[in-house]
Amino acid sequence: MSTLFTPNIHTARLILRPLTPQDAPALLAIFSDPQVMRYWNTGPWSDLKTAQDFINSSAEAMDKQESLTLGIVRKDSAELIGKCMLFSYAATSKRAEIGFAIGAAHWGLGFVPEASQALLNYGFDSLRLRRIEAEIDPDNVASGKTLERLGFAKEGYLRQRWEVNGVVSDSALYGMLASDRAASMP
Ligand SMILES: CC(C)(COP(=O)(O)OP(=O)(O)OC[C@H]1O[C@@H](n2cnc3c(N)ncnc32)[C@H](O)[C@@H]1OP(=O)(O)O)[C@@H](O)C(=O)NCCC(=O)NCCS
Repeated sequence: MSTLFTPNIHTARLILRPLTPQDAPALLAIFSDPQVMRYWNTGPWSDLKTAQDFINSSAEAMDKQESLTLGIVRKDSAELIGKCMLFSYAATSKRAEIGFAIGAAHWGLGFVPEASQALLNYGFDSLRLRRIEAEIDPDNVASGKTLERLGFAKEGYLRQRWEVNGVVSDSALYGMLASDRAASMP
């Protein structure tokens, strides 16, 4: 079977690889933290089954070539520290959306930029995407900085788009084109 939607991607400090059932406890530890989930489109996870269901549905979506979810593993400790995704894949339009999160203990070390750059390269070079987009809470300053440093342009602003546990929030939309990337390369 093709491994296009189940890659292992190595960067200087990280391995991006499909999640396995054994990852459920580590994933729950990360996604049950309210700090990590502050700007997420769901509340914090509260039980192991949520993590197991996420891993199963990610594997099914990858089998069907609908989205790509990769665990982010630190090479120095072999620890699963988060995940990154290309989802809302629209094959005909050659477009997908990127998402990422890592545990708070690993913030500020450039791990998400490193993982995301590798995932963007994979999306543009291997999946032949023309456009990758991202949607974030405009209050999520750290995430906006990460996207802009990766070369995303802020393209739009949607008011009161989400309501999570009674809290209403806006969305900032970002986009990056394969041609933007080509233009910024030396
Ligand atoms: C936002 C996030 C993806 C950034 O990843 P990262 O690997 O920490 O990225 P960087 O190391 O480049 O740091 C980016 C910014 O995060 C912020 N940051 C770093 N360490 C931090 C900490 N300990 N506490 C709070 N913010 C911190 C800073 O604003 C930093 O910008 P600076 O370098 O100009 O100071 C990460 O914090 C995260 O996973 N957050 C929770 C999930 C989330 O919000 N995902 C995005 C929604 S789509």
